[in-house]
Amino acid sequence: MHTLLLSASDPITPPTAANLIMNGQLVAIPTETVYGLGANGLDEEAVARIFEAKGRPQDNPLILHISGPEQMELFCHHIPQKAYDLAEKFWPGPLTIVLPARDIVPKRTTGGLSTVAVRCPDNAVTREIIRLSGVPIAAPSANISGKPSTTTAEHVLHDHDGKIAAVVDGGPCRVGVESTIVDLTEKRPRLLRPGGIGPEELIAVLGDLVVDKAVTAQIDKDEVVKAPGMKYRHYAPSEPVVIVSGSREAAARYIHAHFEPGDRVLCFEEELPLYAGCDPLSYGQEADVNTLSAGLFAALRELDDPKIHQVYARCPVGGGVAYAVQNRLKKAAAFHIVDAEAEL
Ligand code: TXA
Ligand code: MG
Repeated sequence: MHTLLLSASDPITPPTAANLIMNGQLVAIPTETVYGLGANGLDEEAVARIFEAKGRPQDNPLILHISGPEQMELFCHHIPQKAYDLAEKFWPGPLTIVLPARDIVPKRTTGGLSTVAVRCPDNAVTREIIRLSGVPIAAPSANISGKPSTTTAEHVLHDHDGKIAAVVDGGPCRVGVESTIVDLTEKRPRLLRPGGIGPEELIAVLGDLVVDKAVTAQIDKDEVVKAPGMKYRHYAPSEPVVIVSGSREAAARYIHAHFEPGDRVLCFEEELPLYAGCDPLSYGQEADVNTLSAGLFAALRELDDPKIHQVYARCPVGGGVAYAVQNRLKKAAAFHIVDAEAEL
């Protein structure tokens, strides 16, 4: 199959992409978080193609991308006021809400669950594609399952060229990490995945938030969890990653003491001079966490190289989107963290 590369700024792109979606094809779509691998979320066969292309476990549900909050009622029922409050404040934007699913949503989309995740992305072209196709677009991050997510059209082509109908190129993603997922199907709102909207911002609207265990710790593959996706190995380059925490100086001392040829250092731009000779790779500035979230996955993809033995990674501290960067790096490192201060 020849994969079409469609420019988001070309007026023919939304109708072309929408036609492909209506015909059951796979189209990669840009969003403000990461590129999604989209298909008609109401068409079982189209959705099955997503799982096949990604090599994704069947029990891992997909997010339905909708063009506005008014579409929530089409696919969800028993919608609490809190869902409308969140939608009003954060949509279009990097927030996904889990709600009870209507029967119209196929079990293949929900991974067999009775709930469904919905999100209205902050990308005008993608919302236009959803609107023109007349269906919600089911879209996981467009990476091969387990690998770092896709934040450019080139990343998508690297993983899927020749296997999908089209990629809509909307340039690099602004946020760079996936949406925050909040589950509103229980008494208390539950954070299933940190993302572009920080936990503090959610609490300001909800007044309450339980952080799911899968956010902070490694989950056993046989455990029953609220977000099935959280138990799988994720975002990982081919070699082991270890996070080195602590002050800049302590971390540099630890890394220099343990560095061997074939290792790499993933650090902040401000730290590059400390690692001359260690082939360091910067993913953004510590002083501007938005550059770190925007650059993380491209850096992890660059480090996905069998020739590399081990990666020493530096991780930002703090809340907001830094909380999501910490979560993705910890998952990439399988929660392997050393405290450089304690090791001195
Ligand atoms: O930013 C994003 O959310 C991107 C873009 C493309 O929108 N999408 C994305 O999809 O990250 P994916 O499939 O890579 O991650 C979706 C996560 C998975 O961990 C999945 O288990 C969880 O959402 N999820 C989906 N539906 C769910 C549900 N009904 N209940 C609990 N978790 C759900
Ligand atoms: Mg993903």
